[in-house]
Amino acid sequence: TTRGELRYEGKAKRVYATPNPTEYLVEYKDEATAFNAQKRGSWVGKGATNNAITAALYPKLEGVGIPTHFIAKLSDTEQLVKAVTIVPVEVIVRNVAAGSFAKKLGLEEGTPLARPVVEYCYKSDALGDPLINTDTAVALEWATEGDMARIRELALQVNGFLTPFFGQRGIRLIDFKLEFGKLPSGQLVLADEISPDTCRFWDAETGEKMDKDRFRHDLGGVEEAYGEMLRRVEQA
Ligand code: C5P
Repeated sequence: TTRGELRYEGKAKRVYATPNPTEYLVEYKDEATAFNAQKRGSWVGKGATNNAITAALYPKLEGVGIPTHFIAKLSDTEQLVKAVTIVPVEVIVRNVAAGSFAKKLGLEEGTPLARPVVEYCYKSDALGDPLINTDTAVALEWATEGDMARIRELALQVNGFLTPFFGQRGIRLIDFKLEFGKLPSGQLVLADEISPDTCRFWDAETGEKMDKDRFRHDLGGVEEAYGEMLRRVEQA
């Protein structure tokens, strides 16, 4: 597949058209950003690691009935996906209080939640991804009420698969962010990446953070943590 026109460039990925109008090529970059791009960095192999983790997880999610945009991994840093229109809503699923949720509610990081919490944010770098709710998304015509119900159901299904998947690999899935897209048929599918950039992973034994929080808070060993997460995902 040859790269066509650059369609979108985000902080960690580029999306290109392909000769087939129903398919896009996604390139994973080595750049890392945090705090809405106020903090920047990069390391060789980051894009390849996140591409490999996402490309390993998506077929497993398809296997348990979650429709996704994923078609195939093309190279170390590239994957082929179905062309979708992204719903401009970041969907966060939380199992344990951490990050902005812990801060906002005055909770200690690591406080368990009696049930998963699904939150929505408006995907806007300019506004810093503000928290919204279903009414907001419907009123601004980003999605229908039915779309939002389906998105919530799929997000919880993803959590229902990933939590034990990582649990069996010695990792606690604390929280993660998903994005959804619409196919021309109107079907909602899981899109974007699932990687240490978009999830909080804590080692079940040591409690060590194995995700982008190492970069966000200068904890060191970022590259090693991402590499270790790829090994855990690839573990039988
Ligand atoms: O910062 P916060 O606690 O709201 O993040 C919740 C989860 O969503 C974390 O796993 C974080 O990595 C992810 N996230 C993301 N992209 C954003 C915001 C959060 O992947 N723009």
